[in-house]
Amino acid sequence: MKFPTGQAKHRQGTVGLEGQERNGMSDKKAKLTVGDREIELKVFSGSVGPEVIDVRALYRDTGMFTYDPGFTSTASCESKITYIDGEAGILLYRGYPIEQLAEKSDFMEVCYLLIYGDLPNKTEKKKFVREITYHTMVHEQLNHFFNGFRRDAHPMAIMVGVVGALAAFYHDSTDITDPRQRMIASYRLIAKMPTLAAMAYKYSTGQPFIYPRNDLSYAANFLYMTFGVPCETYEVSPTLERAMDLIFTLHADHEQNASTSTVRLAGSSGANPFACIAAGIASLWGPAHGGANEACLKMLGEIGTVDRIPEFIKRAKDKDDPFRLMGFGHRVYKNFDPRANVMRETSKKVLAELGIEDPLFEVARELERIALEDEYFIEKRLYPNVDFYSGIILKAMGFPTEMFTVLFALARTVGWVSQWNEMISDPVQKIGRPRQLYTGEPQRDFVALDKRG
Ligand code: CMC
Repeated sequence: MKFPTGQAKHRQGTVGLEGQERNGMSDKKAKLTVGDREIELKVFSGSVGPEVIDVRALYRDTGMFTYDPGFTSTASCESKITYIDGEAGILLYRGYPIEQLAEKSDFMEVCYLLIYGDLPNKTEKKKFVREITYHTMVHEQLNHFFNGFRRDAHPMAIMVGVVGALAAFYHDSTDITDPRQRMIASYRLIAKMPTLAAMAYKYSTGQPFIYPRNDLSYAANFLYMTFGVPCETYEVSPTLERAMDLIFTLHADHEQNASTSTVRLAGSSGANPFACIAAGIASLWGPAHGGANEACLKMLGEIGTVDRIPEFIKRAKDKDDPFRLMGFGHRVYKNFDPRANVMRETSKKVLAELGIEDPLFEVARELERIALEDEYFIEKRLYPNVDFYSGIILKAMGFPTEMFTVLFALARTVGWVSQWNEMISDPVQKIGRPRQLYTGEPQRDFVALDKRG
């Protein structure tokens, strides 16, 4: 299987459609009436999913922009990696349903699939796992880098810093025009994220960093580096190893979400991969995105007991209260989040096998039940999302809440690098540069300080 080899092109300038046709041109045309003019726009069909109207020539032909804050109706790119049908609750990685991958595959295979487009055969898988494993250690100098942070720093703050700083350590994989360097950078990022994530955790606890063990699986090695200590033997529980691997698989990619779009936008200027992934981590951190798992657990703690749930449901519905039920709702999934279904079942297994009794889990179960029956949530189609259940499992596994979004970032790294590579290989790619609807002051003359009222 070949690594995506397209050449990086960085163009900036006026729209030029010649030679830049997309796949799946449809015979269909869209017509737009602007004043007394009728504009014909091309329509593209994907392999599955909604067709898209090509508006690239709109400004050239009409002098008008489209307006779509939050990109609710905008396809920002062509992609072959991940497909979501929000109405049907379908999530496909390279065509494979997430439920099948969660049940039958493992995270290393999923990484290979996302990067290369197909599942590996035995030889390809062995080689891929060996190569990822080979890159698990980080430059020793990075250990000192951690010392610059406060011990109580949020691990996501540390991750944004150290992942961005990788560019200072791995100069031989920052030339984005070279497919081989792009591949090495991608492997390095996937391989080193668990090591850096575990280091961020260890730093906060004051325990020594644990070097990776290359005889362990990707998930087991991460658990070992996080929970192991040098003075004791740490036996990785197979239940936790499987649950961790599954959580990584479920978070591996999710189409053009905020952090992935951030990675693509940062990369569109030709920035190096480590800087782009650091940008993705920053975007993921927000509570409306990857930060929701941490925010959800904090919310459950704040609710505290089952009898206080109605008070919080009431607040979530109140237009004048900014409070939202964290872990509920999704921009794309409007019936259910297929990842949440898998996660709910896994959380039951993990809690049962670990024999954990935690009052917060009771609050979570009851909150889920009430919200699913509540008219407001039904009408607005707000269902528990992946972050609702992942927080519960991660807490049961022993992770502090601050680490939840770090785990999301770790798992999403493969999605980010796959999307970044796809973008660079795309001949249509150009620097991302949205326009705006300007509603500020029109041009006016400067007023001297002593003349201002
Ligand atoms: N609790 C209460 N009301 C909500 C919630 C919620 N969690 N989510 C949406 N609403 C309401 C919202 O107030 C709005 O009402 P109205 O139409 O009366 O103004 C309506 O539902 C639509 O909401 P929206 O904000 O326009 O929808 P969106 O697609 O822009 O936002 C979302 C999607 C995920 C940001 C939002 O549902 C939310 O903030 N959820 C909580 C945070 C969360 O769990 N995020 C994790 C998403 S899944 C993991 C990931 O992919 O990162």
